[in-house]
Amino acid sequence: MKVLLCGDMDPAELEGWRAALEASMPEATWLSPSQALDDPQAVQAAVVANPAPGSLQGLPNLRLIQSLWAGVDRLLTDTNLPPDVPIARMVDPSMTAAMTQTALWAVLSLHRGFFVYAGRQRSERWQVHAQRCADEVRVLVLGQGVMGRAVSASLAQQGYRVTGWRHDGQPLVPLLAVTEIVVNLLPLTAKTRGLLDAAFFAALPRGASLVNLARGAHVVDADLLAALGVHNEGASLGASIGDRDDDGEEDDGADHAHLRHAVLDVFHTEPLPAGHPFWCHPRITVLPHAAAFTDPRSAATVVAANLRALCAGGAIANLVDRRRGY
Ligand code: GLV
Repeated sequence: MKVLLCGDMDPAELEGWRAALEASMPEATWLSPSQALDDPQAVQAAVVANPAPGSLQGLPNLRLIQSLWAGVDRLLTDTNLPPDVPIARMVDPSMTAAMTQTALWAVLSLHRGFFVYAGRQRSERWQVHAQRCADEVRVLVLGQGVMGRAVSASLAQQGYRVTGWRHDGQPLVPLLAVTEIVVNLLPLTAKTRGLLDAAFFAALPRGASLVNLARGAHVVDADLLAALGVHNEGASLGASIGDRDDDGEEDDGADHAHLRHAVLDVFHTEPLPAGHPFWCHPRITVLPHAAAFTDPRSAATVVAANLRALCAGGAIANLVDRRRGY
């Protein structure tokens, strides 16, 4: 079987993928885009990481597009994707495990106030706050796909009161009203784009927090900033010096804001542009889209299983419904 391997990757990353895929499926021939151009008729499958639009045109015998990314929102924006070729998204157990770890770290840090302690360290402030039990904290996990379910189960195992929500499920507003921490793991589709807007944040109780591990475009940035309260650098510095002996007030604006904190891994524009207000807001924690990577070793096994199923006429796993958008 001849398989095109292409995508938005640097050469070293591409080589890493090629080596892992060759090791998992030595019987396949792995072609670069230029090799595929030599004999486009021969290409039966494409393994892709957000390839440039139009890359999958002109392959008349293409029978499967296997994404190396879990989210296929960017792939589906290619208006020249061959319309009838099935697309499979990546469901990599290592990536799911990493996402679960990141969600757990974020929820634990919010629940125990570890981000607050990090802020106090910066102003050399020795001050403890109350330690609450996990079963006092209600977490809402948006998205109940493979990752959403794994994250929900692991948070529940830690004792959090977890509710899962699907965008085609129960009404959201009543759930938001009783939620302290929202973890977003939704796919980005026409229905979920911009879902986390002013109305969404207003429906959360005062003091709630957001963990966005899905896509930046789920969030209306200006509405998030408004809900967190715009940070005033000068006021904060003054307060941190004056407040040491101690009126119990934080010096980061939390006492006046609707939302307490946001942990953001994903953004409208990545990398997050220099000077973006998220970078230095005292109650936003920025990660560089690093919550969970696909691991070439385990993902190559997943790809090989799907390609072998294709050859044998078996069922392809994790097929995308193009109409739904994920
Ligand atoms: C990462 O964001 C992915 O979709 O794989």
